[in-house]
Amino acid sequence: MTAFASTALARRLDTAVQLAEEAGRLALRLRPPPGAPVATLKGAQDWLTEADGAVEEFLSRQLAERFPEDGFQGEETGRARSGTLRWVVDPIDGTSNYARGSARFCVSLGLIEDRTPLLGVLVAPAMGETFAARRGAGATLNGAPIRAAATTDLSRAMVECGWSPRRPNGAYFRLVEGVMGTGAMLRAGGSGALGLADVAAGRIDAYIELHINLWDVAAALAILQEAGATVSPFLDGNGLAEGNPIMAAAPGIAEGLVVATGFPLA
Ligand code: IPD
Repeated sequence: MTAFASTALARRLDTAVQLAEEAGRLALRLRPPPGAPVATLKGAQDWLTEADGAVEEFLSRQLAERFPEDGFQGEETGRARSGTLRWVVDPIDGTSNYARGSARFCVSLGLIEDRTPLLGVLVAPAMGETFAARRGAGATLNGAPIRAAATTDLSRAMVECGWSPRRPNGAYFRLVEGVMGTGAMLRAGGSGALGLADVAAGRIDAYIELHINLWDVAAALAILQEAGATVSPFLDGNGLAEGNPIMAAAPGIAEGLVVATGFPLA
């Protein structure tokens, strides 16, 4: 259990929502028009846009002013400050969508204490959506409470399988085969953070990815936990530093999905 008083965390959540929404407006102003990607490649299918740096810089500066004692970790600029609490930022999650002018992207701002997710805020400005959660205080979408779905039958389920070039395509095909073998309907939306948030909101029944990084999931972990989803132990082992596989699911189908996919597939 965290040593931080709930009032200190509630104040941080209010600030995080305000800052992430402002960061979202900045990202919207910088969003490229629809068409071929306006971005540079950091690696195979790993995009970097002007907004990634600008949003991360904005959040780093604002958080340092308001909570100078807190640590910070950002995906893009390598900015890092240490502290008992650590803000973890993905300035644009779903960059491959964003770089082509799509609406499916978000600003992700999580707060962790060691291996415990305390707060999560995801703002999808082009969709007008703000997900937020504080440990022990529930999860919301635009202020209304959310819960993971009550689905129990995999043959009626909808499952997103996130893809990245960090794992071999063969492993991804085996994952997809396992999921489809259950009769579940498949999705891939290009934003791990929003896929996980959709599980929390009951819009899909599970999100699975063979490897994902801390900044992609830091906010979503708090939201999923508060929405009653079943989540694999992402922060175990080297999850903090190197990422891990993730499965987040409606509790009624989680065990069946593990059996059907052999999760975590190597
Ligand atoms: C990526 C997206 C993608 C997921 C990848 C992430 P980025 O993050 O969340 O959906 O499959 O694993 O790296 O590059 O858009 O911040």
